[in-house]
Amino acid sequence: MLKKCLFPVAGYGTRFLPATKAMPKEMLPLVNKPLVQYGVEEAIEAGLTEVGFVTGRGKRAIEDHFDTNFELEQQIAGTGKERYLDSVRKVIDSASFSYTRQGEMKGLGDAILQGQRLIGDEAFGVVLADDLCLNEELGVLGQMVQLYKQFRCSIVAVEEVPKEQIHKFGVIAGNEIKPGLYQVTDMVEKPKAEDAPSNMAIIGRYILTPDIFDLIRETPPGKNGEVQITDALLTQAKRGCVLAYRFKGRRFDCGSVDGFVEATNHVYKNIYLPGEKG
Ligand code: G1P
Repeated sequence: MLKKCLFPVAGYGTRFLPATKAMPKEMLPLVNKPLVQYGVEEAIEAGLTEVGFVTGRGKRAIEDHFDTNFELEQQIAGTGKERYLDSVRKVIDSASFSYTRQGEMKGLGDAILQGQRLIGDEAFGVVLADDLCLNEELGVLGQMVQLYKQFRCSIVAVEEVPKEQIHKFGVIAGNEIKPGLYQVTDMVEKPKAEDAPSNMAIIGRYILTPDIFDLIRETPPGKNGEVQITDALLTQAKRGCVLAYRFKGRRFDCGSVDGFVEATNHVYKNIYLPGEKG
């Protein structure tokens, strides 16, 4: 049974400076809810209620967000404003939260390895909160959990992206074993468009089996001198099996200003306003 989910949140968010000078990028709000809460809600929906954060300096606001704020709650208790806390209270009541730090910024692979302290020896989910994934039915992580129950191996979420964007992603090649599900044969971190093995880009949702930790330890620094989870997953794919899943739903790149604005408009129109009216 999968029950744990890791959120690597140590990154600086330089693209949003100066907003992210003193505030974690994961706390930037999409309308009235911080980005990271959307990811945590997706994990909880998928049944992954033991949430672990791999944090760094300056990320304390995330811990405070997933905790009670006694003074504030006293202040608004019994008033009409109390309902604004409903969504985060629900999250706090449904999940447990633990934190560990990534001492040095040595890449996503290293961040996940630091999370081993929180995960132990079991399969787990990983959410990169910058990638906001929305689906009217079951969320992306929930879809992946269903597949994990059937296949019991690591799974990455993928989506087709235009050629000119491929250099921003990990890219897979694979054999389609059923519609939308591929057995991975190759994986490259941020290739040039002409070197990419396909147009199938990895999106920030993973389910990893715990042997990944030893594989990360064996993985030398790759693209940009960082330890890449993509490289460790390629080893896992060659020795055993890794699946890539073309998920149902829509993904917004909230790590870029354009994607963030697009997501904000979408959430305002399709989630926030209907909620206010309903
Ligand atoms: C990371 C991964 C990359 C993946 C991407 C998805 O890159 O290394 O393989 O495609 O997330 O958002 P980052 O965007 O953190 O540089």
